[in-house]
Amino acid sequence: MWLETERLHLRDFVAGDWPDVYAYSSDPDVVRYLPFGPSSVEQTKEHIARCIALARAHPRHVYDMAVVLRAEQRVIGSCTLALLEYEPRHATFAYLFHRAYWGHGYATEAMRALFTYGFETLGLHRIADTCDARNIASVRVMEKLGMRREAHYRETIWDGTAWHDEYGYAILAHEWRARGQHNVHTGVRQGINDSQ
Ligand SMILES: CC(C)(COP(=O)(O)OP(=O)(O)OC[C@H]1O[C@@H](n2cnc3c(N)ncnc32)[C@H](O)[C@@H]1OP(=O)(O)O)[C@@H](O)C(=O)NCCC(=O)NCCS
Repeated sequence: MWLETERLHLRDFVAGDWPDVYAYSSDPDVVRYLPFGPSSVEQTKEHIARCIALARAHPRHVYDMAVVLRAEQRVIGSCTLALLEYEPRHATFAYLFHRAYWGHGYATEAMRALFTYGFETLGLHRIADTCDARNIASVRVMEKLGMRREAHYRETIWDGTAWHDEYGYAILAHEWRARGQHNVHTGVRQGINDSQ
C-alpha cells in the first residue's frame, strides 16, 4: 500500500530502510515518551522485518508505513494505523520522526493521509489512542488532526522514578468528514502495490 501527499510518500517498509530508521529509533529524544527504545541496529532490523510480515498478512491489520520525504528520497519517520483484532472498524495509531525534521508539519501531513485512508478506504469508524501528557508535540498533532481529548488518565505511566499522566484522544468517521479533512487530501494518490 502507498499514499502520496504534497511532500511525502508513505509506503510499506523494505529491509534496506534500516539505516534511515535506525537514525531516529536510536535517538533517546525521539523515544523519550515511547514504551520502547532507544533501539539497537538489531532491534531496528527486527522491527522492520515485523512490519514487512504484518504488511503481508491477510487480512491486514497493521499499516506501519515508512514516511519518505520526497525532496530527499529519505525515510524520515514512520506512522502506523493498527486495526483492533476484535473490532477492525476501530484502530489505534502511532508516529515518530527524525528529530531534524520536527516542526515542519510532516507528522500532521502524514497522519492526515493515513486517517483519510483509514476512514475512506478501510471503512474505519473510530481512531483512538493515548499519549504521555508531557508530549506536547504529539498532543498538538492530534489536535491539528481534529481529535477530541476524551480522557485524562492519572498516573498511568511509570518511568522508573515517577508516575505520569496520559491523555486519551479519539476521532470518529463522521467527525473526520464534518471537518472536511478528507477533502484536504483529495490530492493524495494511493495504490496497493508495495512500490510506486
Ligand atoms: C510528535 C512528533 C511525531 C511530531 O512531529 P512533527 O512533524 O514535528 O509534527 P508537526 O510539525 O506536524 O506538529 C508539531 C506541533 O507541535 C508543536 N510543538 C512541538 N514542540 C512543542 C513544544 N515544546 N511546545 C509547544 N508546541 C510544540 C509545533 O509547534 C507544531 O505545532 P504548530 O504546527 O501549531 O506550530 C515528533 O515530535 C516526534 O517524532 N516525537 C517523538 C516520537 C513521539 O513522541 N511520538 C508520539 C508518541 S504519542
